[in-house]
Amino acid sequence: MEELKFTRNMAQLAVLQRIELANQFLMKIRKLFGRYLFSKIFSKYLINTIKISGKYSKLINDEYENIKRFLLDGQQILSIGGGIGGLEFYILKKFPNTKIDLIEKNYVSNKIKYGWDYKNDEAYNNLSITKEFFNLNGINSYQYNIYDFDKKNFPSKNYDLIISLYSLDYHYDFNFYSNYLNSVSKENTKIIFDTIRPDFFKNIFERLSVIKENKLTVHKSKRIKCETFKLKHE
Ligand SMILES: C[S@@+](CC[C@H](N)C(=O)[O-])C[C@H]1O[C@@H](n2cnc3c(N)ncnc32)[C@H](O)[C@@H]1O
Repeated sequence: MEELKFTRNMAQLAVLQRIELANQFLMKIRKLFGRYLFSKIFSKYLINTIKISGKYSKLINDEYENIKRFLLDGQQILSIGGGIGGLEFYILKKFPNTKIDLIEKNYVSNKIKYGWDYKNDEAYNNLSITKEFFNLNGINSYQYNIYDFDKKNFPSKNYDLIISLYSLDYHYDFNFYSNYLNSVSKENTKIIFDTIRPDFFKNIFERLSVIKENKLTVHKSKRIKCETFKLKHE
């Protein structure tokens, strides 16, 4: 497993996106001083960058192992809410002819809350830092494009694979993306995401299988792989 290189800013985003990377001390500080100071200051200055990059690399490498059976070189992949981009890094390193479009948000909420977010206001990313992360780790810019969710200029092409780990339908409603995903998927496009209501998607997709059960995360969710919208928009 190749260990990822992180600056302090990258390590901070990784901690905010994967709160399980925070140690007990940091969690105590969060409880004592509140979510604002944690999100803005402590998550940046009370972390050990090298330790965080090691833990994050291991965590994301396990995610890569979970989805690698769906990967082939030369695929067109869409990533929704990929965060700093660790999973995308491992895919692009292994499959140099694959292209990934990433749709993410470009701000860090003032007081991050990790629950279901009806309005989809919460965000914990910075798109320039994601770009810097790919550069630092040797990913060429022709291998990926980054789109800001709030600018709504989403790419329109047909994807082979769409991936959203702990973002779409984990923190916010699938509906925010359903029409768009319908328009960019074809018959065999695989859509992989973590959801707290897997059965709901049996009405939406022709085929669905559970590929991971997440018992230790914020919600007890399941990772599903779906194919073919039942109602295809023209
Ligand atoms: C819990 S983090 C998961 C990050 C990454 N997928 C991972 O597995 O480490 C959720 C991510 O979703 C992003 N996000 C929130 N709303 C979004 C939206 N509407 N579109 C794309 N990304 C979004 C957040 O900024 C955050 O980086």
